Amino acid sequence: MTAYEPIEHDVLVIGAGGAGLRAAIEARAHGASVGLVCKSLLGKAHTVMAEGGIAAALANVDDRDDWETHFADTMRGGQYLNNSRMAELHAREAPARVRELEAWGALFDRAPDGRILQRNFGGHAYPRLAHVGDRTGLEMIRTLQDYAVYQGIDVHMECAVIELLADGERVVGAFAFDRDRGGFKVFRAKAVVLATGGIGKAFRITSNSWEYTGDGHALAYRAGAALIDMEFVQFHPTGMVWPPSVAGILVTEGVRGEGGVLRNSQGERFMFSDIPPLYRNQTADNEEEGWRYTQGDKEARRPPELLTRDHVARCIVREIKDGRGSPHGGVFLDIAWIKEKLPDAAERIKRKLPSMYHQFKELAGIDITEEPMEVGPTTHYVMGGVRVDADSQMSDVPGLFAAGECAAGLHGANRLGGNSLSDLLVFGKRAGEYAARYAQENAAGDIQRDQVADVQRVALEPLDRGVGPHGAENPYEIQQDLQEMMQEQVGIVRNEREMEGVLEGIARLRKRAGRVAVSGNRAYNPGWHTALDLRNLLAYSEAIARAALERKESRGAHARLDYPDKDETFGKLNIVIRKNPDGSLEVSREPIAAVPDELQRIIDAKK
Ligand code: FUM
Repeated sequence: MTAYEPIEHDVLVIGAGGAGLRAAIEARAHGASVGLVCKSLLGKAHTVMAEGGIAAALANVDDRDDWETHFADTMRGGQYLNNSRMAELHAREAPARVRELEAWGALFDRAPDGRILQRNFGGHAYPRLAHVGDRTGLEMIRTLQDYAVYQGIDVHMECAVIELLADGERVVGAFAFDRDRGGFKVFRAKAVVLATGGIGKAFRITSNSWEYTGDGHALAYRAGAALIDMEFVQFHPTGMVWPPSVAGILVTEGVRGEGGVLRNSQGERFMFSDIPPLYRNQTADNEEEGWRYTQGDKEARRPPELLTRDHVARCIVREIKDGRGSPHGGVFLDIAWIKEKLPDAAERIKRKLPSMYHQFKELAGIDITEEPMEVGPTTHYVMGGVRVDADSQMSDVPGLFAAGECAAGLHGANRLGGNSLSDLLVFGKRAGEYAARYAQENAAGDIQRDQVADVQRVALEPLDRGVGPHGAENPYEIQQDLQEMMQEQVGIVRNEREMEGVLEGIARLRKRAGRVAVSGNRAYNPGWHTALDLRNLLAYSEAIARAALERKESRGAHARLDYPDKDETFGKLNIVIRKNPDGSLEVSREPIAAVPDELQRIIDAKK
């Protein structure tokens, strides 16, 4: 066996975005020694791509808001596939988590009365997103990171986990490697929290950066945990489309929250033409009037650009497909029009959306205070992930917890913008607390030498093969072929024939991945890193395609041409993915727990 560095912690947190940092802070506060594993440098996390704000019913801007309305909005947005207990905890606890973040030093934008300012976002009944311009995720990470370091958490940077280690049924540690030097590490821990974020790098157009290869999803699956809702991949309606080198970079929903409108090449605000029946007494009025509806006993009026992301993304695709797109294959997003209403519009745009202003100026040569942006959907988030207990965040596997994007349940079929930052604060805290409790109640398990030796052997295979032999495969080409296939065939609109083709394609890519060879040694070797990522990418891509095939209806982020309507039967169940003992992937349908009466009453009252 190759040498490795043994490291021990009570609680090991894998992933150092918002959920991982919040979990680490809480586990430490409960007396656990904590190790925080970070695939890249601390602070570089997809959390920063939640730019527009954190959803929490603080009611600072509209005092009609309350946790019940936030809960009902989240359930409606998720098309009632959500775990209702998670949606309840999330809505109830988000305000306290935001205030706590403020107490730890986060500098939010302010309302005139000095309270935290909140803005409109899609699917939220009231202005609910606490924000810092369009850099909210960045401010959150900065705050949590400072606080975590101050708490004395051990941070393992540039460290990637290859496999979880088990002692019988229980997870007792993780096998990892140093991305810079290539050395192996074996972590022994009483509890492990997965907080690895999303899966965007299985798709060609994505707001995710290179780290997001679904590691937590795949690690949990191989360790025996169930995955749910994997068919629900969120395509954020607005990513950059031009120039090609920056396609997919996020254009925050905050642009629409600040008054930005979507238009097609004919200058029409096409979102007015397709408003789904969501609320009572709704009317699609003219542009000046906005779209009007009644929610509960209240009248409301909103721009249709702030319908939920699944719907807006599909409308954009329709415009493009029907030949009403922009020159580079998107549609127009216009915030400059507010000049007609506000004398200080340009200053306001720069103050409220500073990153968007610079992003378009520097990357596309567009001044968004003067001209519209070109935008199109980009793979942003996955609603699916590790099935967890709502209160504790423990998975089906003892000792294994998950929080944030790699866990599932809160968002159902579609996540509302801003609910990810609140999700990772609420459930990161819970995961950290319960993992620390688990660590107090359970002694450390044994690391199995055989498992370590096996994982090492598999990890070294791409290097041991050496380049040059006939039939050797290049890991980058396999990743690129996968991205192309997932983008085109398991994207915003799906059908059975194409997804069957994807499953065959994945089987072929898996064979090719078995022949991957890379040159060089273990130090600073990105080819080797990509080769190691392939196993995870292929595992969760198969989970997505199989779950999407199994859900024979269209709901939320899952739209099928061959089953264009919702089906009540599927509205009551999760598609569950597990690993069979023989290594194959099992798909099953399992009923979602009934919504308790007191929560159902809230949902009904808010309709
Ligand atoms: O558009 C955005 O700022 C993204 C927010 C989110 O995904 O929650």
